[in-house]
Amino acid sequence: MRIKHEKAMLDFGRKLADALRPGDVVTLSGPLSAGKTTMVRGVLSGLGHRGDVPSPSFAIVQPYEDLNPPVWHVDLYRIDDPSDLEELGLDDVGAEGVMLVEWPEHAGRRVWPRALALSLEVLDDGARALTAEVPAAWEGRWPLR
Ligand SMILES: Nc1ncnc2c1ncn2[C@@H]1O[C@H](COP(=O)(O)OP(=O)(O)OP(=O)(O)O)[C@@H](O)[C@H]1O
Ligand SMILES: [Mg+2]
Repeated sequence: MRIKHEKAMLDFGRKLADALRPGDVVTLSGPLSAGKTTMVRGVLSGLGHRGDVPSPSFAIVQPYEDLNPPVWHVDLYRIDDPSDLEELGLDDVGAEGVMLVEWPEHAGRRVWPRALALSLEVLDDGARALTAEVPAAWEGRWPLR
């Protein structure tokens, strides 16, 4: 799927928000400035969040616990040892929360095997190409409508 500009990425995020269920993990792969945080902004907007969405590169985990479902925005860019993951408390997100994870590769291989795994690529004309690895839990929900 081609996503032509920033607004289209926000709109995609809002559609993704409509499909989310408690317990979902969505991983967002792609190079620096591919649009991962922009997509997360769209998701949070779709869930009714009004306000800043800082890129959690420094905090690593940014919770939005007042949303329904509550969202944990995670950016693993600064994690270079997968064992550092244990300190982030992500196990506590549990079945009610949704995790949106940028740079999942830094966690090591397949930490979230049941995640909807989205990848963004920057095309020559500046548009983004989105590809998805769709797990069983997303059958019937993907493609988004
Ligand atoms: N089609 C597009 N979708 C999303 N962003 C786009 C698009 N075209 C251009 N942009 C621009 O690319 C930038 C994307 O930045 P963003 O922070 O979302 O990337 P990121 O993948 O989260 O990067 P990082 O790996 O540094 O966290 C924004 O400045 C945005 O305006
Ligand atoms: Mg980002």
